[in-house]
Amino acid sequence: MSRRIKFNQRLFDLPPLRGLGRSIHSRRATRQVRFQSTATRFFRNLKQFEALQGPLAQFVDGQAPLRILVAGCSFGCEAYSLAGYLAVEFPQVQWTIDAFDIAQPAVAVAQRAVYGPRHGLAEPLESTARRYADRLFERKGEERTIVPDIRKRVEVSHGDLLADDFTAKHCYDLVLAQNFLVHMNKQDATEAFARIVAAAKPGGAIFVGGMDLDTKVELIKSHHLTPVDWEIETIHDSDEMRRSAWPWGYWTLEPLDRSRSDFTARYSTIFRTCSGE
Ligand SMILES: C[S@@+](CC[C@H](N)C(=O)[O-])C[C@H]1O[C@@H](n2cnc3c(N)ncnc32)[C@H](O)[C@@H]1O
Repeated sequence: MSRRIKFNQRLFDLPPLRGLGRSIHSRRATRQVRFQSTATRFFRNLKQFEALQGPLAQFVDGQAPLRILVAGCSFGCEAYSLAGYLAVEFPQVQWTIDAFDIAQPAVAVAQRAVYGPRHGLAEPLESTARRYADRLFERKGEERTIVPDIRKRVEVSHGDLLADDFTAKHCYDLVLAQNFLVHMNKQDATEAFARIVAAAKPGGAIFVGGMDLDTKVELIKSHHLTPVDWEIETIHDSDEMRRSAWPWGYWTLEPLDRSRSDFTARYSTIFRTCSGE
């Protein structure tokens, strides 16, 4: 199955079939019913985190504690993956992660912090992920549990980014809100995006892989965000879960189009908020 999907992805990446891929996708995007999903995976896009060793290095210089928000955390895989990454790469930095999700059963899994294949821990892990996994988990039989020193720095709660009482304002250095805006209608995605931007400190960074690309370009402009122009192609192609299903689902990810004048805003997944200076 996965070989067929990969073949499919390559097929629609071929220049003569790109137009067909785009037209299949645009029909799906108009006709398919949007639905939220808790699908997630540990170490889903490690290359994206590596921006902390590149253009976002100022956040991990140890001068101040790093505060991170992960919205739509599902089973917690993304939040704990980032936690494992930080623990290995920046052991001297103080950091905390607040994570929340609207789906109570997913929150319960994230709070329990015990994992197997049903909740995003696919084995074997790729070699780059293994060193972070070794720091992140302790093994008990078939299950893996997040180690206590990391677990206590990740606060998981139930919450709705679109709720009237969502109030996070300018509190976080990094805000991750990935792979759920794509499942919202444009009005909700626009409101959710405004809240994500507002939750970040001035000069902070938001990670927003997994949203409709046209909507993203519009919102980047209206919120005066700056795209982080770093390893865009590698990060894009590492989004295996969405790239591999192109063009069949509204939520899938197109091949990069280098000829686009909005290339950086469209394909970057990391953006800086105005510094307010
Ligand atoms: C596909 S999962 C992605 C999980 C993780 N962010 C990742 O990228 O792997 C999307 C999650 O967003 C959650 N979600 C959707 N709408 C939300 C909202 N308004 N507030 C909080 N979480 C939401 C869903 O319940 C789901 O668990």
